[in-house]
Amino acid sequence: MGDIRNIVVLTGAGISAESGIDTFRDAGGLWEQHRVEDVATPEGFARDPDLVLRFYDMRRAALTKVEPNAAHRALARLDATFAQGDRGDLLIVTQNVDDLHERAGAKRVLHMHGELLSALCANCAARERFAGTMLDRPNCSACGVAALRPDVVWFGEMPYQMERIYSALANADLFVSIGTSGAVYPAAGFVQEAAAHGARTLELNLDPSEGSRWFDEHRHGPAGALVPAWVDEVLAG
Ligand code: OAD
Repeated sequence: MGDIRNIVVLTGAGISAESGIDTFRDAGGLWEQHRVEDVATPEGFARDPDLVLRFYDMRRAALTKVEPNAAHRALARLDATFAQGDRGDLLIVTQNVDDLHERAGAKRVLHMHGELLSALCANCAARERFAGTMLDRPNCSACGVAALRPDVVWFGEMPYQMERIYSALANADLFVSIGTSGAVYPAAGFVQEAAAHGARTLELNLDPSEGSRWFDEHRHGPAGALVPAWVDEVLAG
């Protein structure tokens, strides 16, 4: 793998599953326990803000009980080798709203669906680091109004930093998708975008995803085993 300079990694809920965070679409996953329309849309929030705030408060509180796993740590190891600048570029695009990539030590992480540990003010659009409980209706530190909402992207809203992501995909030599079902666009389309620009594509997932056929190569199994093995290969290359 010596000729690989620019890598884009896309991660989904599957990478955090072995840390004990529920995925969305697996048996017993979050979308079996909650209706997407109720807790992950602007309309649901307008209808019943308490229900939505409680859902994200609960998920935020659960973060304090989990730790990064071997897959997060392996990506952080890969990330560290890009610190010198002459290695090429790495971008870890995550659909996850947890902070496990960062806690493992990765720096080149972009949260396209937002972050549980961030609050967005619906009044002034300021963002702030937030580890508390939104059901208490805390005031925004910038404007003082009690209008904080979770800084997560809901269905019907635009994912974050798409320009930066598409530019990285256009320059990628390798695109790797880890632990995502390929059910949600635009992330599900990244594999075709990267391939159209000449990248090799690799899927690391427990089982074939909905977009499996678009990848050049597939490895199926738990991320905690597959990702460290793949990172070892890249670093040895
Ligand atoms: P999903 O729950 O849709 O898919 C998780 C994927 O991870 C599935 O393909 C599983 O087979 C796989 N998986 C489960 N355990 C694994 C393990 N230990 N190792 C490797 N793979 C494993 O989650 P996402 O694809 O992340 O968006 O979902 C995408 C988006 O849909 C989320 O960001 C969220 C959700 O609705 C929003 O809320 C906007």
